[in-house]
Amino acid sequence: MEVLRAPIFDVHRTFSDGALAIDAGRIVYCGDYKPFPDAKTIDLRGGFLLPGFVDAHVHFPQLRIIGRLGRSLLDWLDRFALPEEARMADISYATEIARDFVHALVSNGTTTALIFGAHFVPATVALFEAAERTGLRAISGFVFSDRALPPELLQKPEDAYRASKLLIKKFPRYAITPRFAVSASEAMLEVCQTLAREHPGLWFQTHINEQPGEIQDVARRFGWAQDYFGVYERFLQNEARVVLAHNVHPREAELERMAARGVSIAHCPSSNASLGSGIFPMRRHLDAGVRFALGTDVGAGSGASVMREAFAAYLMQRVAADGVRMDAGEMLYRATLAGAEALGLETETGSLEAGKSADIVYLRAPEGSVLAGALKRVEDPTQALEALFTMASAESVREVRMAGEVVFSRKPDSRM
Ligand code: GUN
Ligand code: ZN
Repeated sequence: MEVLRAPIFDVHRTFSDGALAIDAGRIVYCGDYKPFPDAKTIDLRGGFLLPGFVDAHVHFPQLRIIGRLGRSLLDWLDRFALPEEARMADISYATEIARDFVHALVSNGTTTALIFGAHFVPATVALFEAAERTGLRAISGFVFSDRALPPELLQKPEDAYRASKLLIKKFPRYAITPRFAVSASEAMLEVCQTLAREHPGLWFQTHINEQPGEIQDVARRFGWAQDYFGVYERFLQNEARVVLAHNVHPREAELERMAARGVSIAHCPSSNASLGSGIFPMRRHLDAGVRFALGTDVGAGSGASVMREAFAAYLMQRVAADGVRMDAGEMLYRATLAGAEALGLETETGSLEAGKSADIVYLRAPEGSVLAGALKRVEDPTQALEALFTMASAESVREVRMAGEVVFSRKPDSRM
């Protein structure tokens, strides 16, 4: 058994002098500090222990194109995202990106992620393997499209089906991943439905209601559907755990049906702002009872930090006409347990409750940093958590543990 001693910020509870005891990869105690005579205790005071972060929407092949600003969705896809995704046909390039991508997530404190794979099977395999090597709990899938994209990114539905069967056998944390209704025909969505029926318990991820031009395109292509969600709804199986990214422009009837079906939304505020998609109607999601978590949405988003994404959500809601006032506890919940709930993994991860996997982030402000100075002046733990969400970046992620094992640690010498 190993004991970590430090202030702890868990979902809905704080221990200013806390202890986290880990045995065989599981949390066995999380509470006020007390001595554990038979265990090795590591004194981590000076930093903070939090649950590992959950990223509910992120694209691995887009790591290198973060920061292409000033375009709208369909234009950005054509000009930047899709040409880069086509490069994933080169397996040596894809393998390099997969490795760097997984490192980017883990070094930002993410321990679980739902990831858009590539339009190519070998590149998608490279991602799963990079995640396995690092210890990241990755759920991902081969991206389906059979129209409306450059031809090198398209597959025939029957080929998509066959390739998926092999991948599912090899990688059980598998997400059926049609890119979006614009680029997936009915035949392709039928393949998704068949896979979900044949493999109960898989995940299903795609995009929805991101920008008006995209929504109009979907309405044109699926004349029979009452709205965008109606397209996916027709092909969804009851068993699948469904995560839809964005949902910036939902109709009221869609929200009602999303709540009834128990789908989750991945809210991606920095991407929504950067592409000009709009402000997420968080209050309407809360009022309708639609579950939502956070997605960094690399590469339309600004990086792989779920903490930064939580802060972006806070900022966007502050300037929204009917915005929700997210406090630090709410940001922590959205960055952790809400993601685990969206992925159906809430009994395994997402908080520091005893019995769960010891997926832990240790934050410690770099010596001499503005954040370190601010933390010295806080009056209570809530202010410390606020300062962390406002200022902590990857440089403050000192150590990350996955099932108790250290999967990332940073030398304490960088000042910022
Ligand atoms: N809709 C379809 N593909 C994408 C993508 O790669 N990024 C975003 N933000 N939206 C999409
Ligand atoms: Zn996306």
